[in-house]
Amino acid sequence: MSQSALPRHIAIIMDGNGRWAKKRLLPRTAGHKVGLDTFVNTVDACSDMGIEYLTVYAFSSENWNREASEVTALMELMSRGITKYEPEMVRKNIRLKLMGDIDRFEEKYRKPLLDVQERLSKNSGMTLCICLSYGGRQEIVRAFNLLAQQGKTEITAEDISANLYSAGVPDPDLVIRTSGEYRISNFLLWQSAYSEYYFADVFWPDFDKSELEKAIESYAKRERRFGR
Ligand code: IPE
Ligand code: IPE
Ligand code: MG
Repeated sequence: MSQSALPRHIAIIMDGNGRWAKKRLLPRTAGHKVGLDTFVNTVDACSDMGIEYLTVYAFSSENWNREASEVTALMELMSRGITKYEPEMVRKNIRLKLMGDIDRFEEKYRKPLLDVQERLSKNSGMTLCICLSYGGRQEIVRAFNLLAQQGKTEITAEDISANLYSAGVPDPDLVIRTSGEYRISNFLLWQSAYSEYYFADVFWPDFDKSELEKAIESYAKRERRFGR
């Protein structure tokens, strides 16, 4: 595939860990564990392919309403997973950007994540954005509040973009959701105005490189018109 057919920014709703586990009579957390491996493999694949930006939806604002034990398991997995994967991200020159209300995380999970983000902040390879405690509506409301605090009364679309967590990141070209659900679940509402969508039937733990390639091939065949 030619480089120009590659999306510059891929965003992924990593869904279906629980059902993947249920199908195997395993606890939901077992699905999240394998899902973390899929995440690492996907980051590797995108970085190797030369994708400039990868954004993943790891934990939504609404996911706080899950059972406390699942929330804790997810926090632990993400915090330990990112720390463990740091050397590889250093080797691949990956820049990390956390997006969401990270302050809601307990200090013991938040600190390691922020530390890795800081250490990788000067890297110049692929930018990996991880949405944690993230909601698209919450992000837009936060942007308006930031603008109000700046005393803005006349607000432009550029002002809003510049005050989102994603400030400085181009809008996603391709948004992928796994697990056969056809909904957006509060993901990148503002940024995905003209994104191409791709829905994969497989659960997230089964989303391998060939599935990623299928999504990119589908994207490459599409004609984007932007209303013209
Ligand atoms: C995605 O898998 C991971 C998170 C939302 C944190 P789910 O946990 O939503 O799995 P399903 O959708 O219930 O199968
Ligand atoms: C979206 O998946 C959030 C993440 C993948 C992190 P959910 O499983 O939370 O979404 P719904 O509940 O099916 O809409
Ligand atoms: Mg789900």
